[in-house]
Amino acid sequence: MERTYVMVKPDGVQRGLVGEVIGRIERRGLKIVALRMNTISQEQAKKHYAEHVQKPFFKSLIDFITSGPSVSMVVEGKNAVAVMRSINGATNPVNAATGSIRADFALDTGRNVVHASDSPESAAREIGIHFRDAEISGYSRIDETWVYE
Ligand code: RTP
Ligand code: MG
Repeated sequence: MERTYVMVKPDGVQRGLVGEVIGRIERRGLKIVALRMNTISQEQAKKHYAEHVQKPFFKSLIDFITSGPSVSMVVEGKNAVAVMRSINGATNPVNAATGSIRADFALDTGRNVVHASDSPESAAREIGIHFRDAEISGYSRIDETWVYE
């Protein structure tokens, strides 16, 4: 099993899409093992998006992601990193696959509703930025034998 870090960004919260995103994750069979709403700090945001520090959009990205409450999750399941990236769709919503969150709910790269880690290594790093170990719940979901063979 693999874990990934998922965020409903401030635009998703403001647009009332929290339930929509969580519903898609749960219905796919992935398991939410940590969940919280908060406004992330500048310090957390800069660590989270450290790979983009040199990019021209870095300041607007940090301002946006810290502008209001977001919802953070740790999501667990088989191939959770790749599956969550496909649930979200491509970074620029114009390229997002039909049926993905970004195709269904977004038009602009800078307002693309959701985040998910891009590799298992990124996931471990990002989970460590947003959650303490004690905030992550290990448990079995009752449908696991019907989701996995
Ligand atoms: P995310 O990290 O938010 O899940 O998005 P991603 O992996 O699909 O894309 P990434 O390359 O990591 O970019 C992070 C976020 O920065 C904003 N962005 N703006 N103006 C631009 O060219 C541009 N490129 C990226 C987007 O909000 C993107 O989600
Ligand atoms: Mg990214």
